[in-house]
Formats: sequence, structure tokens, C-alpha cells
Amino acid sequence: MSPLLSVENLEIRTAGRALVSGASFAIAAGERVGLIGESGSGKSLTALAVLGLLPETVRVSGSVRLDGREVVGARDRDLVALRGRSVAAVFQEPMTALDPLMRIGGQVGEVVRRRSLRDGMRLARAEVEARVLELLQRVSLPEPERIARAYPHEISGGQRQRAAIAMALACRPKLLIADEPTTALDVTTQAEILGLLERLVRDEGMGLLFISHDLPVVAAVAGRALVMRGGELIEQGPVGMLFDRPAHPYTQGLVAAARAFDDALEAAL
Ligand SMILES: Nc1ncnc2c1ncn2[C@@H]1O[C@H](COP(=O)(O)OP(=O)(O)O)[C@@H](O)[C@H]1O
Ligand SMILES: [Mg+2]
Repeated sequence: MSPLLSVENLEIRTAGRALVSGASFAIAAGERVGLIGESGSGKSLTALAVLGLLPETVRVSGSVRLDGREVVGARDRDLVALRGRSVAAVFQEPMTALDPLMRIGGQVGEVVRRRSLRDGMRLARAEVEARVLELLQRVSLPEPERIARAYPHEISGGQRQRAAIAMALACRPKLLIADEPTTALDVTTQAEILGLLERLVRDEGMGLLFISHDLPVVAAVAGRALVMRGGELIEQGPVGMLFDRPAHPYTQGLVAAARAFDDALEAAL
């Protein structure tokens, strides 16, 4: 069976330089894969290439096959259908997904409505509202009725990220891309959102591409990881193997740093 996502020789360039060069990897249906690398290494551009959302200012070549369709060079209307059904994304800053002028319930409801139209179903208003409350509950938002009536600025950052996750879930995607979804949150909220994502992806059997600069965070949600540096995928393999036998000096550095942090934490306790 062909994988859910297959990226081959992905190359993203500006006039002056290569931002991502020759990246190849695949994600099987239901598989959870991490993408690790320092800031500026090309992780977000890789994610945007999978979503077909790269800025017009860059040139892209190679192949991104998602759910049986080629994304590179695809027409906008085909990409819209793909994004409504095959792939959804959660970003670092939840406000990128949310409209500041619309109540949370209305925004999640809009996705629910569009997704059922794609399945050929026109839901009644009450059905949409019921589904919205169910989704807000699934992402463990307290008092879903109140949150549904709130505007984004009336809830906390962690709650906004949960609402953004609810919108992604409403698409029932085969692949969820989470690009540093916890980086902007405080440590406690980070851990909660991470646990939530891990549980939801597992329950729904979704594939996951989880992006982070933090190796231990990736290890918590992904079975396999890709390591990116300077626009190149320098190493990939099962997370356990990367920890035990990192091949590339950069990965060795990441593992050493993670272990040193662990040891310091233990010594302090
Ligand atoms: N629209 C763009 N035009 C030109 N360069 C860009 C653009 N977007 C990102 N870059 C550059 O490409 C590199 C990779 O960026 P990005 O994928 O956002 O890194 P990461 O997500 O790993 O931090 C960086 O050097 C960044 O400055
Ligand atoms: Mg990024």
C-alpha cells in the first residue's frame, strides 16, 4: 500500500539560496512522526509544502504525494479539497487559525458545516451546534457552552490552542500537522496540550507530523523522527534508535543536551 504521505526530493528555493534541499521521507497511515531541528532549519517550510501553502515568493520542486494526490504544482481548488479532508494543521500561534472577530463556536461550526457538505450532508443548525460542543469537549475545554460563545481574546492561550485543535479535528483529517503547537505556551499547559494531541491522534488513528526544536517533546508523541539541519534531512529513524545510536554529530549533540538536562533535573530533585 502506498504511504499516506510521500515526500521525494523536496527542494524549496528563493532566487538566492536553497531553503530546503532534497528532503525525502514518508508517513504511513496512522503513523506518528516527529520533525526536529533548530530554528531556521526548514521545518515549517517543509510543513507548508505538504499543505500546499508555500508563499508565492519561493520555488518548489520534487514531489509531495498526499493521500494519493500530488501537491506540488496542484491547482488551488484541488488543494482546498485536500486540506478540508486529507490534512489539517495546528500552528505555534493559535491566533493564526482563529478569526478574532468571530465566536469560537461559530468558527468550529463553520469547519463542521464545510466538512459535512464535502460528505454530501447538509447539517441543520442544531446538529452543527451539537457537534461543536462535542468537539470542544473532546479537546477538554471546560464549560464548552461558555467557550463556544466566547471570542478568542476572552479565553486563555492554552484554551485557544485547544480550540484550534478542535477545528483541525472537525476536518477529520488523515494527517495532522502540528508545527511547534506548544512552543508559545507555559510549561504546564505545554504538557497538557501534548498529552491531548497524543491521545486524540491515537484515538482517531490519524497520521501525525509533529514539528519541534525539542527532542524530548518529539519523543513523547512520535515513534519515528526526522532530523533536519540547514535545509537538509540529515537523519531519520525510530526515536529509540536516535536516542541510543545517533549517527550524525548534530543528532548526537541533541541527545547529549537532552540527557544533560535530564541529569541536571534529577540532581536537583
Ligand atoms: N517566505 C520566505 N522567503 C524567504 N526565505 C524564507 C521564507 N520563509 C522562510 N524562509 C527562510 O527559510 C529558512 C527555513 O525557514 P523555516 O522553515 O521557517 O524554519 P524552521 O521552521 O525550521 O524554524 C530560514 O532561513 C528562513 O529565514
Ligand atoms: Mg518553524
